[in-house]
Amino acid sequence: MGLVVIADSDVRFCRRLRSLLESEDGVRCDEVRTLEEASALLPLRRPDVLVLGPSIAPAVALEFAEALKPGSTVAVVLVSSEESTDLLRRAMRAGVHDVVPMDQQFGEVVRAVQAAMTTAGSRLEEPRAVPAPSRGRVVTVFSTKGGVGKTVISCNVGVALAKSGLKTVLVDLDLQFGDVGIMLDLAPERTIFDAVQSFERLDAEMLRGFLTQHSSGLQVLLAPVHPEDAEVVTVNRITAIIGLLSKIADVVVIDTSAALDDVVLAAIDSSDAIYAVATMDVASIKNVRVSLQKLAQMGYDHELIRLVINRADSKVWLDPGEAERTINAPVVAELPSDRLVPRSVNRGIPVVLDAPRSGVAHALGGLAKNIAAGCEEVSSSVA
Ligand SMILES: Nc1ncnc2c1ncn2[C@@H]1O[C@H](COP(=O)(O)OP(=O)(O)OP(=O)(O)O)[C@@H](O)[C@H]1O
Ligand SMILES: [Mg+2]
Repeated sequence: MGLVVIADSDVRFCRRLRSLLESEDGVRCDEVRTLEEASALLPLRRPDVLVLGPSIAPAVALEFAEALKPGSTVAVVLVSSEESTDLLRRAMRAGVHDVVPMDQQFGEVVRAVQAAMTTAGSRLEEPRAVPAPSRGRVVTVFSTKGGVGKTVISCNVGVALAKSGLKTVLVDLDLQFGDVGIMLDLAPERTIFDAVQSFERLDAEMLRGFLTQHSSGLQVLLAPVHPEDAEVVTVNRITAIIGLLSKIADVVVIDTSAALDDVVLAAIDSSDAIYAVATMDVASIKNVRVSLQKLAQMGYDHELIRLVINRADSKVWLDPGEAERTINAPVVAELPSDRLVPRSVNRGIPVVLDAPRSGVAHALGGLAKNIAAGCEEVSSSVA
């Protein structure tokens, strides 16, 4: 599978090139309109080829390519309406793989991208010298079954991480029925819908303005208020928004809906770890196993999966060890069933604050530690 990111403000250019490239088996393209979006997307998607389109001024494109150079594995193809030996020389110095003129048939452009992809493929054989971008850890809380506790877990680990001093952002990606705002008792004055509305101008600083602060210090990007507003929150925009958030936070926790749709896949694509939630019943464990198998078929790395057993003490079925073997992923937390949880949900106060000494709060704190363990310098700071 080859991944190409096409950057250009001209939608027609992007669409046309995309359809030509994707007509080949095993090629997928992402489109971005600005270089800002491209820089948010690159560390997350790690494409093989980046096409910088003709609407980007050559000097700006070269500066961008130059900045990518240290340690980057992406092959940059520059499409330019300007042709000069000076441009070629500067492009070479900037580490650009190829410069091609813009032609109406796109023939040269397609050939250059395909050639760059082959080079990128052989480069993958080498150990990946992926630059260590300074970005926070992104984790997705996942289950295609509803009501297993994803939102309870996301809110509580979000609060526990924030209380430990980590800059933490919780994203409610259950775009139609998100209830993070209710569980944390936050008024949805600004939501992801507003962030997407301003997308063309959006940068990390502006995105901060769309976050809602919880008393624990946790910052929350709330779901749209009206379910129909979810439609404008497209996958590329979500990916770019997560990329921007990871630049301003130590940890980004993503709560998802009970689905395996493009939105959830975008979250998973951007994540360093996926916390799959199951309850202790056969249907739930089977559901997790099947959805993880689907993810593996789509090429997702099973190594990123961690298992969280919620309501682990419900004496219904198997022991966590059996769940671990069935799903073939480590169980990193077992959360007991406790009436304190629905009580805290009704109060709009996460149980880690409402009943911090309870067993369930301790177990959620342990899960937060596991998440923080991925953020090197700060791992020891979660209480
Ligand atoms: N450990 C627990 N003990 C007792 N009740 C729990 C526990 N975990 C979750 N619940 C209850 O289960 C209900 C569903 O939890 P939650 O909304 O977090 O699930 P979800 O997976 O996010 O569901 P959906 O897929 O519909 O968004 C909550 O109202 C909560 O009170
Ligand atoms: Mg939920």
